[in-house]
Amino acid sequence: MVGLNFIDKYLKEHLSKKRYIHSLNVADIAASIAEHYDVDESKARLAGLIHDCSKEESYEDLVNYAQNCGFPVDEESYNIPEILHGPGSVYIARSIFGIDDVEVLSSVRYHVTGKENMTLMEKIVFIADYIEPSRKFDGIDNIRDLVYQDIDKALLFAFDLTIKYIIDRKGLLHHDTVDARNFLIKNTTL
Ligand SMILES: [Fe+2]
Ligand SMILES: [Fe+2]
Repeated sequence: MVGLNFIDKYLKEHLSKKRYIHSLNVADIAASIAEHYDVDESKARLAGLIHDCSKEESYEDLVNYAQNCGFPVDEESYNIPEILHGPGSVYIARSIFGIDDVEVLSSVRYHVTGKENMTLMEKIVFIADYIEPSRKFDGIDNIRDLVYQDIDKALLFAFDLTIKYIIDRKGLLHHDTVDARNFLIKNTTL
């Protein structure tokens, strides 16, 4: 794996200043939540740092990256371009940063949609992206409080808000997000 200085330089060169700061924020929050739940802090920080590293690439490049990311990407995803930077960032993580840790890569892969039966690391990166300090929306303070009490409750709240947001805008809803929410409803005491 390349050094953190290399990754930092890459992010500065490939992301807007706003998104670069967002990435640093997500890394910090992910590390803090990981510490709280006794999960590998440095992996959570790394996944948070790189989660959006492909987000400003062209649709054509993202399609190409997604096809080569090493994780399954279904046909549906190509109709929801927002989703492709998950697998796209995995591709850059592997091929440019030399990251091969599956926990880190799968957390990056699923940070946009979530998925059924998420690992704790995947949950941490998803929710860190959702609540980092520059985010502002109704209900965020509730999620910020919940995340240190019960991460599944925080996630369910986040999925509910996301699904409502997409429906209100008549957007396409990826089945992984519905599966993630349904799994939480069925498998946790809420
Ligand atoms: Fe993202
Ligand atoms: Fe993000």
